[in-house]
Amino acid sequence: MDRIGVVGCGLMGSGIAEVTARAGANVLVVEQDAVAMGKGLERIEKSLLRAVTSGKMAEEESRRIRDNLSFTTDFSELEDRELVIEAVAENEEIKLDVFRKIDAAVKDPDAILATNTSSIPIIKLAMATHRPEQVIGMHFFNPVPVLKLVELISSLLTSPETTARARSYATESLSKRVITSPDRAGFVVNALLIPYLLSAIRMLESGFASAEDIDTGMMVGCAHPMGPLALTDLIGLDTTMAVAESLYEEFKEPHLAPPPLLSRMTQAGLMGRKSGQGFFSYKS
Ligand code: 3HC
Repeated sequence: MDRIGVVGCGLMGSGIAEVTARAGANVLVVEQDAVAMGKGLERIEKSLLRAVTSGKMAEEESRRIRDNLSFTTDFSELEDRELVIEAVAENEEIKLDVFRKIDAAVKDPDAILATNTSSIPIIKLAMATHRPEQVIGMHFFNPVPVLKLVELISSLLTSPETTARARSYATESLSKRVITSPDRAGFVVNALLIPYLLSAIRMLESGFASAEDIDTGMMVGCAHPMGPLALTDLIGLDTTMAVAESLYEEFKEPHLAPPPLLSRMTQAGLMGRKSGQGFFSYKS
């Protein structure tokens, strides 16, 4: 597959657009307006510049990757895409609406419609289309150019052919490691990760330990590359909140409910790195 569409160019979408363009595909990114397009492109260019500056990529190669990318606000331009990966905000209504639009726009009868959702059941998104057998979850990890994992989630209606083609694209074209997950809230990784992040937030909220000590404990004591609060800031507090809500809705276990501190910070717009302030400050 070398005509790829990516819908949404936020934290995850920009990473997905970058890795698919790096793999040589012609990538069309759909965003809602010029401002969002500008921010997405800036993120991709920053990431490419980082690779060039550190000597891992030739400048010519980064130009080639940049040339593989184009942007639009018009869903109908997805018409000729063979694979479309949706990566808009983690909100069911928004994703359903986007899936209806992708389904209406894409004309290739064999196209795969994938979602990078962290927690919304794949079957719900599949049922918003006329081709549920071609809908699959391809869940990437942030930062997408660095982390090698893709979770592949087939719904009850995903065809074996769709699963095989998506797996082959992720492993062969994108050089990712694939694990498979059932279509359950959180899939494999977030079902393990989010309760851990929520525990750290509760620990901070109750005054049990400071943010610095919680993170230092896990980095120095358990060799994690970053502590749980810095990781929540990286993922985004709004996304963490949305995944926690989905997990709680599905399993109704108290430890999956978002702690009040997470809700209040999200309501206050303290989203982590992307807003400049979360559990730590990122203002330069
Ligand atoms: N884009 C591209 N490359 C990046 C990058 C980015 N945003 N951030 C870091 N890198 C690259 C650097 O260039 C560097 O490459 P090199 O080793 O080849 O030179 C490498 O990553 C390490 O970066 P740094 O030296 O700047 O910083 P660190 O060593 O502190 O690593 C990190 C930063 C990669 C973010 C690391 O701390 C890490 O892996 N943290 C854990 C992240 C994690 O757990 N993510 C999963 C989140 S869960 C998720 O995404 C699912 C969702 O559904 C919630």
